[in-house]
Amino acid sequence: MASKDQKDQSILILGAGCFGLATAYHLASNGYRNITVLEKDSEVPSRFSAANDLNKVIRAEYADPFYTTLALDAIKKWQTDPLYSPHYHQTGFLNVTSNAAPAQTKQVIAKYFASIKDHPSFVGQVERMNGQNDIKKLVPAFNGPVEGWSGYFNSLAGYGHSADTLKTIHEACLSIGVKFYLGEADGEVESLVHTSARHATICVGAKTRGGKIHLADKIILALGAGVANLIPRIGKQMTGRCWGVAHIQLTPTEASQFRGIPVTNVRDLAFFFEPDHETNKLKFCHMGGAFTNYSWSKDGLSLPFNNLSDSNFIPANDEVYIRQLLKQVLPQFADRPLIDKHLCWFADTDDSDYIIDFVPGMGGSLLVLSGDSGHGFKMMPIFGSFVEKLLTEGKQSQPKWQWKDTKPKQASVWRSGESQELAGVPRSKL
Ligand SMILES: Cc1cc2nc3c(=O)[nH]c(=O)nc-3n(C[C@H](O)[C@H](O)[C@H](O)COP(=O)(O)OP(=O)(O)OC[C@H]3O[C@@H](n4cnc5c(N)ncnc54)[C@H](O)[C@@H]3O)c2cc1C
Ligand SMILES: *[C@@H]1O[C@H](CO)[C@@H](O)[C@H](O)[C@H]1NC(C)=O
Ligand SMILES: *[C@@H]1O[C@H](CO)[C@@H](O)[C@H](O)[C@H]1NC(C)=O
Ligand SMILES: *[C@@H]1O[C@H](CO)[C@@H](O)[C@H](O)[C@H]1NC(C)=O
Ligand SMILES: *[C@@H]1O[C@H](CO)[C@@H](O)[C@H](O)[C@H]1NC(C)=O
Repeated sequence: MASKDQKDQSILILGAGCFGLATAYHLASNGYRNITVLEKDSEVPSRFSAANDLNKVIRAEYADPFYTTLALDAIKKWQTDPLYSPHYHQTGFLNVTSNAAPAQTKQVIAKYFASIKDHPSFVGQVERMNGQNDIKKLVPAFNGPVEGWSGYFNSLAGYGHSADTLKTIHEACLSIGVKFYLGEADGEVESLVHTSARHATICVGAKTRGGKIHLADKIILALGAGVANLIPRIGKQMTGRCWGVAHIQLTPTEASQFRGIPVTNVRDLAFFFEPDHETNKLKFCHMGGAFTNYSWSKDGLSLPFNNLSDSNFIPANDEVYIRQLLKQVLPQFADRPLIDKHLCWFADTDDSDYIIDFVPGMGGSLLVLSGDSGHGFKMMPIFGSFVEKLLTEGKQSQPKWQWKDTKPKQASVWRSGESQELAGVPRSKL
């Protein structure tokens, strides 16, 4: 059989979140002519996407230099690519522990600083921060005690407006001919469609809730934390987990005092961003070990909500951390109500490596983009190129990103705290 020009092959992408949109745009702008995207929400940005909120940290300091290199490439695109640069705010990243942090956590951050300060990419960009005076000198608008805050400030970092980025990339996809089907009936995929061949089961398409079957040569799963719904065996290497996100509302006058403040991560409490330019909201997230949702599942998988309203809360302890943080940094807001509380679900692997590979045993018909582990958004400008390389080469040559049938041995290092099961965790009161 004559092989079709690769770019004439039909591509069906399931999920219009961060990875799906990045892939659709990259492939379409590099000559792929027949791309269709199915998305369960009736709008893009999807309310189910982990990336659909005000902002995400963009930084390149990683314990693993492999990701540092990639993140530096991505930051270059954030700075210069006209699709991305309007959404990038290079405010810098302040990464500290508070006085309350255990001594061990403080030592970790000191060691971490030592490891990046001489990295060629960060020379002159990272600065040690040791206590109240350093912090107040860097950010005079922090009028709380910030007592004992120590860590570092990295000026080659900041945040991206994530919802706006998704919107821009969606529009860019539409303008170059990518087809989208949205909503429960037309866009939500209920199952994959297979056919048996001599040596493999081939995935030939996907069936939506409304019963329509979309056929394609290559099917690409980009379903975020929900991927195990369609392909449960991936549950051996990834777990759906969530963190709580909450906001406080500032007035325009209040917000103007905090323009340009760095993304501030107080490791033992929570991280926050400058007030959103449009809404004047401050966003907070306590990034502990994250929460699983096994108790609802029949097949031993931790899965996110089906119904948006099920995720409109945060664990009570997260609120405690956020209030402690506010007392330390902006005490005037310590009692302000937390609004727009929700859980944000991501696809977590034990070693924080992405999964970008063909699903084994499917004759090269089915690809999976998963395992974002809570650090995928920053790669959006370059993520699609990883997928194009995989399609062209026909196999994943980067071992970190290969499909794995067992859990890796090495655990991820950049979070504080253990993962907890959601059921039974007290919820923050409305
Ligand atoms: C609280 C929080 C903070 C984060 N902070 C950062 C950060 O600071 N920096 C960073 O780089 N990254 C961050 N991330 C991670 C980032 O958001 C993710 O890496 C990224 O969104 C992953 O993209 P994805 O496409 O895999 O999943 P998603 O963006 O979640 O997209 C999945 C899509 O699949 C759709 N879908 C699901 N099931 C179906 C179905 N059956 N049929 C059709 N469509 C379906 C969903 O509606 C959704 O649109 C954070 C994540 C969270 C939760
Ligand atoms: C912040 O510093 C800690 C060391 O305390 C490090 O492990 C972590 O990766 C840094 N956080 C981020 C998001 O870079
Ligand atoms: C795109 O692919 C689909 C599925 O293979 C096919 O039915 C359709 O005719 C293709 N469209 C074009 C314009 O080639
Ligand atoms: C937990 O998972 C189930 C599906 O197994 C889902 O219906 C429910 O909404 C989830 N709960 C939350 C809080 O996301
Ligand atoms: C979603 O949850 C809300 C509130 O709990 C409920 O009223 C609604 O019926 C649910 N929808 C679905 C589709 O389950």
